[in-house]
Amino acid sequence: MNIILLGPPGAGKGTQAQKLVAERGMVQLSTGDMLREARKSGTEMGKIVADVMDRGDLVTDEIVIGLIEEKLEAEKGAGFIFDGFPRTLKQADALGALLEKHGQKLDAVIEMQVDDAALVSRITGRSTCGDCGEVYHDVTKPIPADGKCSKCGGTEFKRRADDNEESLKQRLMEYYKKTSPLIGYYYAKGDLSSVDGLASIDEVSGAIAKVLD
Ligand code: AP5
Repeated sequence: MNIILLGPPGAGKGTQAQKLVAERGMVQLSTGDMLREARKSGTEMGKIVADVMDRGDLVTDEIVIGLIEEKLEAEKGAGFIFDGFPRTLKQADALGALLEKHGQKLDAVIEMQVDDAALVSRITGRSTCGDCGEVYHDVTKPIPADGKCSKCGGTEFKRRADDNEESLKQRLMEYYKKTSPLIGYYYAKGDLSSVDGLASIDEVSGAIAKVLD
């Protein structure tokens, strides 16, 4: 089963993708995580990507489509969760063609509906485990009291360079201009389901499970 989690920054895509990986053995393909790996590499491409991400703009379609193509060829599991991809109509068309090329199809596109006002606190309160990437939040999912990641026991936690109000405004602008048209695109294809992303993490997981089962 291959699915897309679609929603603005902070909607909870990564959080739900991690749960689906743990519970169903699916493979999370997050273009944001792939690009953060690329920027760590210090290559020329990594430097260009870092500037674009910190501003809150979108990286070029060619770069992210190339990253996804590599992963589709390399990874195996009980289906893919596309997290943060596609983000433009060109990426959506490319994903359809890539899946077809690999004899696969898209089973569901899950739109996570949230109120913009909730996103600032979600984004500015977020941290992730430096070892396994488990996502935490200062209020709604705090780091355990012993200071160790609940998933891997890691003790270092990071905040993202683009998790500030200024970058978030630009990320939201990019979402509404370039990504939100995908809601209509997948609705017209008959693939779209929507869940209330403002519910608790477990309630959102339950709603997603209903769609998938
Ligand atoms: P990316 O890494 O994809 O970031 P994003 O889409 O902005 O989404 P986030 O990771 O910020 O949020 P999320 O929805 O995963 O929320 P999370 O689960 O962490 O992209 C970063 C950048 O890379 C882009 O700006 C762009 O530059 C570039 N890029 C990436 N993909 C690209 C593409 N395809 N094309 C071009 N450029 C691309 O949750 C957020 C917080 O809320 C957490 O602290 C979490 O604990 C908490 N939380 C989650 N769910 C709930 C809940 N139900 N209730 C309460 N709290 C919750």
